[in-house]
Amino acid sequence: MARQFFVGGNFKMNGSLASIKKIIDDLNNANLDGKTEVVVAPPALYLLSVQKLLNAPAQVSAQNAFTEASGAFTGEISPNQLKDADVHWVILGHSERRALFGDSDKLVADKVKAAVGAGLSVIACIGETLEERENGTTKQVVERQLDAIANVIQPEDWKKIVIAYEPVWAIGTGKVATVQQAQDTHADIRAWLEKKISKEAAETTRIIYGGSVNAKNAPELAGAPDIDGFLVGGASLKPEFIDICRVKA
Ligand code: PGA
Repeated sequence: MARQFFVGGNFKMNGSLASIKKIIDDLNNANLDGKTEVVVAPPALYLLSVQKLLNAPAQVSAQNAFTEASGAFTGEISPNQLKDADVHWVILGHSERRALFGDSDKLVADKVKAAVGAGLSVIACIGETLEERENGTTKQVVERQLDAIANVIQPEDWKKIVIAYEPVWAIGTGKVATVQQAQDTHADIRAWLEKKISKEAAETTRIIYGGSVNAKNAPELAGAPDIDGFLVGGASLKPEFIDICRVKA
C-alpha cells in the first residue's frame, strides 16, 4: 500500500491575524487536490480562526498539547479541548519544545499517549543534535526517543502517528540534511518500526523529514524511498509552501 505523501507547515510563534489569514487564503486559492495530505500548525491563539478559514482537504494542527484532559494547568491546552474545537492534529516533541521548554522523552511520550487517547493524530518529532550526529549516535538517539513513545502506547496507536525526523542542526539553519543522510535515518526508523512494532506499522507509517526544507530542495528529498513528506518551518510562511505541497503532483 502506498503511503500518502504528507506536508506539514509549522508556523511556530510567527504571524499575526492578518498575515496568517493571507497564508490560508493563498492555500485555499491553490486548490490543492488532496493527493498530498496538508496540515498547517498556527500558534494556538489562531487555531480557531484558521480552522474556520481553511478549506478541506487541508487540515489544521496544534503545535503542542498537555497530558491531562482538564484541570489546573495554567497556560496549557488539552488534547480533548483540541478535539472539541475540531482540531484533529497536534505536533508533539518538537526539538524547540525539548530544548527550550524541558519536554523530556517521557513527557513527550505521555503527551503522545494522551493525544491518541483523545482521538487526535500526532506528528511526533524526533532528531539528534549536531554533537550527537558528530559522535555517531544518531540512530541511538532517535531509537531512544521512539522507544519512550512505544513504551506507553499500544501497537495500533501508530496508525495515528506521523513520525517527523528533524535533525536539530538542520532546523532553521538553512543547513539541510543531504538526501542520503535523511534517507539513511528514515530507513533506520522504518527498521525500528518493523522490529519493535510490526511489519504493517513499518509499511504504513509515514516518516517525514524536517529541517530547512524549501521549494528548491524538496523535489530531490521527496524522491528518496523512505521520505514520505516534510515538516516545514520557515518556508511554510512563504508562498513557496504551496510548491512544496505540490512536490508530488
Ligand atoms: P525549518 O523548521 O523548516 O525552519 O528548518 C522545521 C521545523 O522546525 O519543523
